[in-house]
Amino acid sequence: MKNITANELRDMFIDFFVSKGHKEISSSSLIPENDPTVLFTTAGMHPLVPYILGQEHPAGKRLTDYQKCIRTGDIDSVGDPHHLTFFEMLGNWSLGDYFKSEMIEYSFEFLTKVLGIPVEKLSVTVFKGDDEVPRDEVAAKKWEALGIPKERIYFKGREDNWWGPAGETGPCGPDSEMFYDTGREPCGPDCKPGCSCGKYFEIWNDVFMGYKKEKDGTYHEMDRKCIDTGMGVERTTAVLQGKKSVYEIEVFTPIIEGIEKLSGKKYGDDEEIDTSIRIIADHVRTSVFILGDQRGVAPSNVGQGYILRRLIRRAVRHGKKLGIDGVFLPDLAKIVIDLYKKPYPELEEHYDFVMDELKKEEEKFSQTLTKGEKEFEKMLPNLLKGNSRVIGGRIAFKLYDTYGFPIELTKELAAENGFTVDEKGFEEAFQKHQEISRAGAEQQFKGGLADHSELTTELHTATHLLHAALRKTLGTHVGQKGSNITAERLRFDFTHPQAMTAEELKTVEDLVNDAIKRDLKVTVETMTVDEARAQGAVAFFDSKYGEKVTVYTIGDFSKEVCGGPHVTHTGDMGHFKILKEQSSSAGVRRIKAILEK
Ligand code: ALA
Repeated sequence: MKNITANELRDMFIDFFVSKGHKEISSSSLIPENDPTVLFTTAGMHPLVPYILGQEHPAGKRLTDYQKCIRTGDIDSVGDPHHLTFFEMLGNWSLGDYFKSEMIEYSFEFLTKVLGIPVEKLSVTVFKGDDEVPRDEVAAKKWEALGIPKERIYFKGREDNWWGPAGETGPCGPDSEMFYDTGREPCGPDCKPGCSCGKYFEIWNDVFMGYKKEKDGTYHEMDRKCIDTGMGVERTTAVLQGKKSVYEIEVFTPIIEGIEKLSGKKYGDDEEIDTSIRIIADHVRTSVFILGDQRGVAPSNVGQGYILRRLIRRAVRHGKKLGIDGVFLPDLAKIVIDLYKKPYPELEEHYDFVMDELKKEEEKFSQTLTKGEKEFEKMLPNLLKGNSRVIGGRIAFKLYDTYGFPIELTKELAAENGFTVDEKGFEEAFQKHQEISRAGAEQQFKGGLADHSELTTELHTATHLLHAALRKTLGTHVGQKGSNITAERLRFDFTHPQAMTAEELKTVEDLVNDAIKRDLKVTVETMTVDEARAQGAVAFFDSKYGEKVTVYTIGDFSKEVCGGPHVTHTGDMGHFKILKEQSSSAGVRRIKAILEK
């Protein structure tokens, strides 16, 4: 068997499928463009959903790529030797072209001929069938014909052999997974592929996309069947190199060495130190990919920005635990960019943004971290005196509100001291705080609209148009940070790392004026936060609103969760003019604008 690196595996996979008539397409953004139901791209097929559902792909019916993926479900498991938040997925697709038999032949050929894995090392699973979808005899027979003996072909149920959809709805189907047997002793009589003891490693998944899951939870068979496959680069590389952990392969070695150098600690001697090192290595790699993405975002309190903030803050805390002094994430980020700049040139293109944002967030958090941890330590003797081993929601909220501790970090800190956290109580305290600040904001807003003049209502609608135009021009990292309206002007604060250029300002102005000229209709609906999000509405406070929200839609231009009021048509608003664009605070810009009559 060949001892190949992650870079080599990537090339071998793509070359193989290109030789089989596939076109290589480039890795899409980590931030899904058309799917508001998930924060990140979780699989290679994710950006291809419209094409699997029937749209024609410009590159044809046979595609292959390597795709950046993030799965955030496991953030708290990162630290053990196996979990990663970011990983690369190799994949190939048939969009209504070849199907199951041919795919299994490709898989077998690639694994045994190209990678040189002995057949004896391979086991596979196939779908055992249920009331809706039949047992996959076709896949099983094909594997057998190719040389996998019956006893290594396992039939399993939906929990194991059904894949997708990637979001809440979309294409899905039965799959067939391929496992590599490490040769270790089975952990018991039931040990088979899928067992977590470490004997078997899943290396590839062939999905036979034949169904579409609808909003109401039902499945419909698709006329045009597709193939979607996924091979995790890090995991497969580790398996092929005989490593026990993904953290031992060459894409992690330089990062881990960097951490060793900064901390003076060694990897591999002490489980607690190793855990911290793995957390930092994983989180810094993922943070670099989020920041350096073609649609990169900055740390914030909502959406992708919040995940990024959690990753950075958790990495910083573990850096301090290892005794690293001073700002260290940018140093490690450089190593990550160097490692990945060839396959992912966007990382180097966004070099300054990655470095600046990491440094800012690390500096900001480092200052409060020490204070917050001290505060926690001060509380500890009292907490230990009581019988309860639960930290109250109000205390957790205080750490969040005053020291910027994401709840997950408080949970981790608590767990290290034998405590759990009353998360429900935290949510309640959070909600109460939001209501107060929302009431405050409404009050302030009412103040702004006190004269109820038409103009202030128009300025409010103009604010929505401006917000949408900024996002269209600068990117979806733009989020509202504040808004203030007087009878004369609007003022809008939003996240953006640098001053806007004259050209960008002109584009934004033109977009708004064009929307005004088109006399777009403004409509209002009430719905749940989830529905609003599914429709792609921009929401200021993320999901922490009360259950139902009002959503204002301005033609095809803007959709925002908001309390109103707004004009009914944009046509009479006049000419939108930006007076000033300036810095408001770190990472936040401020625009003042008027409507000229
Ligand atoms: N979409 C499939 C997966 O992620 C291939 O496993």
